[in-house]
Amino acid sequence: MRNGAAILLVTLAGCAPVQDGPPAAADAAASYAAAVLHPTTGSSVWGTVTFAATDSGVLIRADVSGLAPGAHGFHVHEWGDCSAPDATSAGGHFNPEASPHGAPDGAERHVGDLGNLVADASGTARYERTDRRIALGGANSIIGRAVMVHAAEDDLASQPTGSAGARLACGVIGIVRGAE
Ligand code: CU
Ligand code: ZN
Repeated sequence: MRNGAAILLVTLAGCAPVQDGPPAAADAAASYAAAVLHPTTGSSVWGTVTFAATDSGVLIRADVSGLAPGAHGFHVHEWGDCSAPDATSAGGHFNPEASPHGAPDGAERHVGDLGNLVADASGTARYERTDRRIALGGANSIIGRAVMVHAAEDDLASQPTGSAGARLACGVIGIVRGAE
């Protein structure tokens, strides 16, 4: 895990986080993006998340450790800024369509709503699903935004956060490969 994170860190060095306005790469869709999740203050949650463009959507894979066993809210947040000790600098859920919070497969959801990671007894969570709402270019682009893991389960209904609680790990999403 640590070696993988180091490799991703080298790959992502030089990606400037998006602070405001549309991502700089919004017009040129990427084919592959990734984030390294870093623990917030008091947390020991680390991980990596990758996003691959496919014909049926964006394939998301996450590998996260240091969690309490059980479900943990997992979202893309609006701003690529994990600098605050509690990661509140990343803003709320990425919601370009002004929709209510919801389930990843629900009719109404924030674009950034990815449901939950589920950690096993050792505190490790693996997540793999293809999402049709997030994108690596255009209005729903997640490039330069933040991916977040929470302390509590996202109930997929409470507004506007799913009652997912504190932010345990945050990573800025950067382009690994451009469109091919
Ligand atoms: Cu979140
Ligand atoms: Zn949401």
